[in-house]
Amino acid sequence: MIAGLAYVFLFSDGPSDPFEETFAQHCIGCHSLDTGSGFVDAPLTHGDSVAAISKSIAHGFPQQGMPGFAETLAPEDIRALAIYVAERRVDRLFTDFRVDAPLTIPEGVLSTAQHTFKLDVVTAGLDPLPFSIQPLPDGRILVTEKMRGLRIVEPDGSVSDLVSGTPRVYDDYIEAVLVWGHGWLLDVALHPDYARNGWIYLHHTRRCEDCWIVARSYNRVVRGRIRDGHWVDEEVVWDPGPEFHSIVPDIGAGGRLAFDDQGYLYISVGIKGSSNFDGVQNLEKPWGKIHRVWADGRVPTDNPFVGTPGAYPTIWTFGHRSPQGLEFNHRTQKLWSTEMGPRGGDEINLLLPGRNYGWPLYSMGLNYDGEPVNYGEWLDITFDLNDIEQPVVDLTPAPAVSSFVFYEGDAFPRWRGQALVGSLKASELYRVVFDEQDRFVSSEVLLSKLARIRDIEVGFDGAVYLLVEHAEGGQILRLSPVAPEQADTRPVAAPQSPRYSALPGAR
Ligand code: HEC
Repeated sequence: MIAGLAYVFLFSDGPSDPFEETFAQHCIGCHSLDTGSGFVDAPLTHGDSVAAISKSIAHGFPQQGMPGFAETLAPEDIRALAIYVAERRVDRLFTDFRVDAPLTIPEGVLSTAQHTFKLDVVTAGLDPLPFSIQPLPDGRILVTEKMRGLRIVEPDGSVSDLVSGTPRVYDDYIEAVLVWGHGWLLDVALHPDYARNGWIYLHHTRRCEDCWIVARSYNRVVRGRIRDGHWVDEEVVWDPGPEFHSIVPDIGAGGRLAFDDQGYLYISVGIKGSSNFDGVQNLEKPWGKIHRVWADGRVPTDNPFVGTPGAYPTIWTFGHRSPQGLEFNHRTQKLWSTEMGPRGGDEINLLLPGRNYGWPLYSMGLNYDGEPVNYGEWLDITFDLNDIEQPVVDLTPAPAVSSFVFYEGDAFPRWRGQALVGSLKASELYRVVFDEQDRFVSSEVLLSKLARIRDIEVGFDGAVYLLVEHAEGGQILRLSPVAPEQADTRPVAAPQSPRYSALPGAR
């Protein structure tokens, strides 16, 4: 099966990097990317953000001997160069996905700005591509492995057999740059009243059983209960139906779930049309949207497009590319998402009903070939940039942002109300602070060069659990607090560079 037909739209993995070529052509004579040169490993005098680097390149420093490039290079080339320099400055090679980089768990006590903690392995040896963890009140943890199914991790780290009867998944795949497949198990989440009703929700991509030439799948949500190792009482919660089967691999499917305090369930669906932009701006299609339903699947009558003829009635927001994280902030009663952009343009978004988040009309990042994102021309869509909701945090260079949580536990009281955000390619864990108006305040790198962090959850004990991918087996890690007086002084702290800055004018 040609599972990856559309993958060329998602990544271009040719041997050469057009961004690097532009740098080699115009800059390498005067700037070295070697460590020790100062260009990639020391603060830049004129600013380190992509915006500041772009400005340095555009205007140059004629008196010091650097010409301005605003006249000779197109704005997107200048942006590409700035992204390339910024990537190199955080030691992030565009082509390095860290799938099999050595996985070393830092030992001892880690001190960060607000808390000291230790990191231990709850369980290792999961499938290399797990997707979601969900702690249970009794200390066990549900874990989904994309191409295997659902299992239960005991507090002692032992892992159950697969829960039988969950939606079918497929373990055939194409390995392009990353793994591409169709028919995966994605998020697992508990109903807010789980203690009483036992409902467990699963987001999966259902593969077309008789599409022989090209594999196809579409996002779907079910709920059920686990009894004696079996998935029972299954009910369909959200199922747009096989007319929405898509050839785009599930890597861009989104696949997260979030509950609010009023009984609504939010569902993230990524680029799953016939290409990475098909239908994302079209309200008749479920792709590239965040959806809202009641926990039992009914369509809320006050959804923003319920009264729009032809619109898919569960749409809450649209214009999303690869929404990897979805969380309700119970403190502020707001819904947030994280979203992977192309090269640059990863985002942390505040999701407001009915708003357009821009893909594929506009992005802070660039396409992999260096072209700006403006598929509006192809699609014949004209738009006003003011009508596109900008991210609260623009994560460029892109860390390949994954899932996140708003921390509200007892174990780390100073982190309450803040976001803990994971990343895949960068293999970093961030702490991100917002103010009461939902504006970005600051960020800290809590862990760096760890492993591809796919999911993050807070346990009922307040500890923070990370689900990491690795070629030699996925792992669940636990961050638990250590009283500061127990902390030794060895320099194990993660770098604390507030690398990302808020966008001027962004919400
Ligand atoms: C002819 C030599 C020359 C070329 C070509 C050149 N630069 Fe520079 N560049 C300099 C010099 C000299 C400075 C130092 C100016 C200063 O620090 O005041 C500089 C400064 C910079 C800075 C700001 C550094 C800081 O500390 O803030 C950036 C960013 C930069 N260059 C990027 C580039 C890029 C990208 C290119 C290719 C498009 C490029 N330069 C091409 C000579 C050059």
